[in-house]
Amino acid sequence: MPSEPPSIPIANPDLGREEQQRVADVLDSGMLADGPTVRAFEGEFAEYCGVDHGVATSNGTTALHTAFEALGLGTGDRILTTPFSFISSANTIRLCGAEPVFADIDPETYNLDPEAVIDTIEAYDGDVDAILAVHLYGLPADVERLRTIADTYDALLIEDAAQAHGAMVNGDRVGGVGDAACFSFYPTKNMTTGEGGMVLTDEQAVADAAARFVNHGRAESGYAHVELGHNFRLTSIGAAIGRAQLEKLPDYIEARRANAARLNDGLADLPVTTPYEPDDRTHVYHQYTIRTTARDALIEQLDARNIGSGIYYPTAIHDQPAYDGYAVEAPVAETATEEVLSLPVHPSVNEDDIDRIVDALTEFF
Ligand SMILES: Cc1ncc(COP(=O)(O)O)c(C=O)c1O
Repeated sequence: MPSEPPSIPIANPDLGREEQQRVADVLDSGMLADGPTVRAFEGEFAEYCGVDHGVATSNGTTALHTAFEALGLGTGDRILTTPFSFISSANTIRLCGAEPVFADIDPETYNLDPEAVIDTIEAYDGDVDAILAVHLYGLPADVERLRTIADTYDALLIEDAAQAHGAMVNGDRVGGVGDAACFSFYPTKNMTTGEGGMVLTDEQAVADAAARFVNHGRAESGYAHVELGHNFRLTSIGAAIGRAQLEKLPDYIEARRANAARLNDGLADLPVTTPYEPDDRTHVYHQYTIRTTARDALIEQLDARNIGSGIYYPTAIHDQPAYDGYAVEAPVAETATEEVLSLPVHPSVNEDDIDRIVDALTEFF
């Protein structure tokens, strides 16, 4: 009987000796919670992204929540975002007391469409306090235009870079265009700390407010809790893993981009839409996402060949039950939810795996 082909998972965190050694060092130190390892990781990640300050958090969701609070956003404020993202992007807006409003996406980049952003802000008579731009799948949103729009309407710009560590716009890494940027280090992301996240900002006052918020509103020194806050702190164990992962991130990005290029070549003649990378942006392929109207049947074919795939996202955020009552016009996002399919592109996918994926799609079509 022929043996089953090995599975090609949709995600596969790469953890090795370096991470083990750094975690062992933390265990030896006895400082498991906040401490110097977290400070070091904050500094190293911020420097890598070209941003002045980093505040580590317990995950990407708490990074977003912290950024909103640190920027003074909350009850009575409107934050515009995309309905085509992980639900965390919008949930955190509500969790800080603000109102999410949704603008449609661009069909090629899957990110906020600047024209739709302007129309949506105008529909609220210009009364939108912030824009949360998600760099979906690892492709930067059009942050330069979004910055201009935000400035025009006197709104803040926040980057949800949970999927885009190291992605670039005109040679600059994401994280520095917004008033703050938020990252996730969940295990399926392009680098991990287990659970973890980070807020980046060039503003000292925002960084200080974020550092207080993740630590029960506690002032930098002493035992005074000067405002309300949470425990949203990252552990030193997570930070230790993150420091090792950050050293490997450039190689991870190179491997993802090489795999994406091979997939692009292999799928070029098939009736699927492959990812779009505008000339001014560097995609880091957190997901390699194609579009096809034959999605369900294709997934069956991939399943039968032990090839993982994923739908990010099958439902627009405003169509989730928790968003009943949010009136949103986002036909481009809604169509995308019916057609997108992500294929394995992570660094442990090798050339034989790519051949298997391409063969499966070629046979299918
Ligand atoms: C776009 C986006 N925003 C926010 C998050 C939230 O990150 P976390 O899962 O670490 O809370 C994620 C991660 O899943 C994400 O993909």
